[in-house]
Amino acid sequence: MSVGAVPSSASASNESTALAARLLADKTATLARLAAGIAHELRNPLAVILARVQLLELAMKGGKPLPPGKLETTLRTVGEQAVRASKIIESLSIFARPRVPVLESVDLGQIIGHVLSDLRAESSEDRIVTTEVDVAPEAMTVVADSGQLTTALRQLTLNALQAMPDGGRLRIHARARDGSVEVIVGDTGGGIATHDAARIFDPFFTTKPSGTGLGLCVAQTIAEAHGGSVRLMASGGPGAEFVLSLPTRWRMP
Ligand SMILES: Nc1ncnc2c1ncn2[C@@H]1O[C@H](COP(=O)(O)OP(=O)(O)O)[C@@H](O)[C@H]1O
Ligand SMILES: [Mg+2]
Repeated sequence: MSVGAVPSSASASNESTALAARLLADKTATLARLAAGIAHELRNPLAVILARVQLLELAMKGGKPLPPGKLETTLRTVGEQAVRASKIIESLSIFARPRVPVLESVDLGQIIGHVLSDLRAESSEDRIVTTEVDVAPEAMTVVADSGQLTTALRQLTLNALQAMPDGGRLRIHARARDGSVEVIVGDTGGGIATHDAARIFDPFFTTKPSGTGLGLCVAQTIAEAHGGSVRLMASGGPGAEFVLSLPTRWRMP
């Protein structure tokens, strides 16, 4: 009697062992990538903090305390870099364990302003990016978790800026449409290749040498927790355009 194509129990068990090994290898590679991303993102602020603390220590040991102005800027830098490190960790924890949004009435214009000033303060490059912000009056107030919305918009804006290493134009427009508030973030960078467009929301998908591939995934996780979404609107170039929409049905009375 022939068993034909029916696999013997030995070969079935070999196949499932091979599958388990492959899944474990995928998981390990993913973990390695995440760890490399976290290490890269945290290395900078921690190095700055360490250097400033060492400077203070040396000055104290040498009996020459820093003049008050210099001391103040040094401590401010330490504080800013610690905040930066904690924001990175916040992004990761949102991705790892989405928190139910704590909804309140928030000023979208103010959130966009904070995102832009934070990113400007962190950037050491002197390329010229002109920024155009336009928030329609009916989109000015949204009901959202302000920390989470800031994180989501930061990821979209950061991507837009990173796409324009030689400068360009950043556009952030907000408008109310079809029961949602839409925030459109557009840039004039290199755009997104058609074969990448389907994968950009996948966790860990990145085309940047030091990217984590978590930004869009974090933004989308946050938008979805608010009943909204993040979509790629245009990528054919020049540039790319993303839209984050939040339902207005949560508008406070
Ligand atoms: N504004 C943009 N312009 C061009 N490519 C973009 C833009 N936003 C996202 N991408 C693409 O999507 C990928 C994933 O983005 P993201 O999840 O934020 O991770 P990361 O920024 O760490 O690479 C990027 O590596 C890039 O290829
Ligand atoms: Mg990103």
